[in-house]
Amino acid sequence: MSRSRIKRIGILTGGGDCPGLNAVIRGVAKAAIRRSGAEMVGILDGFQGLVERRVIPLDWEAVSGILTQGGTILGTNNKADPFRYPVPDGQGKTAVQDVSDAVVKYIREIGLDILVCIGGDGTMTIAHQMSLKGIPIVGVPKTIDNDIAETDITFGFNSAMTTAAEAIDKIHSTAMSHHRVMIVEVMGRYAGWLALESGLAAGGDVILIPEIPFRISQIAAEVRRRSEHGRKFSIIVAAEGARPEGGEMIVRRTVADSPDPVRLGGIGQNVAEGLEEATGLECRVTVLGHLQRGGVPTPFDRVLSTRFGVKAAELCVSGASGVMVALRGREIIAVPLSRVDGKTRTIPPDHKLIEVAREVGTCFGD
Ligand code: F6P
Repeated sequence: MSRSRIKRIGILTGGGDCPGLNAVIRGVAKAAIRRSGAEMVGILDGFQGLVERRVIPLDWEAVSGILTQGGTILGTNNKADPFRYPVPDGQGKTAVQDVSDAVVKYIREIGLDILVCIGGDGTMTIAHQMSLKGIPIVGVPKTIDNDIAETDITFGFNSAMTTAAEAIDKIHSTAMSHHRVMIVEVMGRYAGWLALESGLAAGGDVILIPEIPFRISQIAAEVRRRSEHGRKFSIIVAAEGARPEGGEMIVRRTVADSPDPVRLGGIGQNVAEGLEEATGLECRVTVLGHLQRGGVPTPFDRVLSTRFGVKAAELCVSGASGVMVALRGREIIAVPLSRVDGKTRTIPPDHKLIEVAREVGTCFGD
């Protein structure tokens, strides 16, 4: 056990949940306790727990047996940005207020030397802003969307991608029996990673992603071409952020008190209607929704989450701050949070996987 000036480490999970969060919590806590005997403090429900002063002790026992559990033992929240915190305005509505100074005060009061923030792009932005206020921070990149800058992959993505691919596999057999066009809408927000990789893994005939706007006429031509060659069914994997050429993404709802209020959804139905009109073929839509965020992490995510957690502990104990752990090639490294804040990692149009998909005849609707 090494001597470190870091005695108390806080840890929180922010934003939408995903498989692997508990594996990271376990990795950070066990490695920090082993390395330096640091005391771990769990913050409940993301940044909301810091505003509402809700924390729990996290000893070795508390983080044992959680490696394979989905969700997060700490709870999470995607509506609790301390810089724009929702408060009642006294007239039955909600206003936003900057409560970050109170959060800084509380962190100092409970003696946290450093804070590990596990979350997506929204959480990394808040984490960076908190570090600029003098709070030592180490970030860990989580999200099924795989859209965080500076890391090759986020944990949670592989699990969600596997769930989506397994669902598409199941859709395949019923599509074949009924000679139907089946559209599977997957999550991913403004990035198409989830659609691209699950579509590739499950042999989607058409993959629609936000990065490549589609034309219904092109999709219809592909479906007809398949039909003429005896393939009387087609599988279309549509990212929720997919959009037609010259058109917009479909916003399903707005969540007023969320840092990113836009919730996408509905493109699957939209494509189905366009295709039925263009081809006369029967289409069915399956929206996978939050199923993709649930369940146990894949072995890949368990390993990645543990590596991220252990690296975060190492950084905490060594007194690093204002950084996020990241996977670069095969290595886990630390990158400055300033390079992550405000960025979204979408798929470059010339990405190798798009090339590979095109080589095996996948249509992107362009
Ligand atoms: O960022 C993760 C994610 O699951 C997105 O893929 C999706 O657009 C969004 O969160 C859904 O958010 P909510 O859980 O608020 O409906």
